[in-house]
Amino acid sequence: MADFFKFESDINLINEFLGNRAFLNVENSVVLDAANYSLKNGGKRIRPLLTLYFSELSGGDKQAALKLGCALEMIHTYSLIHDDLPCMDNDDMRRGKPSCHIAFGEANALLAGDALLTEAFFLASQSGISPVNANLAVKFLSEFSGARGMVLGQERDLQFESVIPSLDDIKKMYSLKTCALLKCACVLGCLTAESVDYERINKACEYAENLGLAFQITDDILDVTSDSKTLGKPVGSDEKNNKPTFVKLYGLEKSKILVNELTEKAISILNSFNKKCDKLTDLTLALASRKF
Ligand code: IPE
Ligand code: IPE
Ligand code: MG
Ligand code: MG
Ligand code: MG
Repeated sequence: MADFFKFESDINLINEFLGNRAFLNVENSVVLDAANYSLKNGGKRIRPLLTLYFSELSGGDKQAALKLGCALEMIHTYSLIHDDLPCMDNDDMRRGKPSCHIAFGEANALLAGDALLTEAFFLASQSGISPVNANLAVKFLSEFSGARGMVLGQERDLQFESVIPSLDDIKKMYSLKTCALLKCACVLGCLTAESVDYERINKACEYAENLGLAFQITDDILDVTSDSKTLGKPVGSDEKNNKPTFVKLYGLEKSKILVNELTEKAISILNSFNKKCDKLTDLTLALASRKF
């Protein structure tokens, strides 16, 4: 994706950090091999990118942002490993390779997810930000990713395979399963600045809500329009699992219009910050026209 070249050096920085941060497998553990396999296996890395860019916008510490963003990437990676399991979406390909449970077996994949989730908090504890901000980082990481955030969204997502939801229910589900981790990414970036600016944090969450809805609708569009080689994961997964999506409800054209409207709203929120970060605008636009 041509538009993504702009972020190449930051993505390399993130990949290098995660490569060095992979579990040292002195125990000869299959679970740790499985965790490393999924963690080091690419992905767009948009959550750590958002942490880096919101840190820049906030005048924060870049190394702290890298650590916190990569901690969140560990949580995201765990969510993908579990999302692919047979008891959830039952998908056998992820980021262009066999899903973790296909490569290592279900039990090892389950435990690899557990290991990544826990390791994320270990890494976050080493960010070096002030004790007050570090406390907030742990609070936000757990709230946005846990049973009041992404996990609740995943629960609703599974329930809605058999119970027909309203449009509001679907929006809420997207907000929890997808926007929550994106909000977390932006807020963590804000917390790398010395003082906590709640106005900036609230605006960052509003931005991520719009970005996240656009992002999940695009994910649903690509599930219908793309191919598994480009996407690196199976297409037709939503249809197979009877998932209620915006695409199913509104059709492709209206869904694309919604993505553009949400993206415009996200950009207008970015424009209301005192400081500019062009990379954030570029990333927001690149995600709306992404092909994977
Ligand atoms: C996939 O997230 C799960 C969704 C929230 C739609 P990404 O599209 O960010 O996945 P990777 O990290 O690039 O593989
Ligand atoms: C998953 O949504 C969101 C997560 C919290 C992992 P999807 O189930 O649509 O994500 P993909 O399409 O498998 O990446
Ligand atoms: Mg899913
Ligand atoms: Mg899935
Ligand atoms: Mg999907």
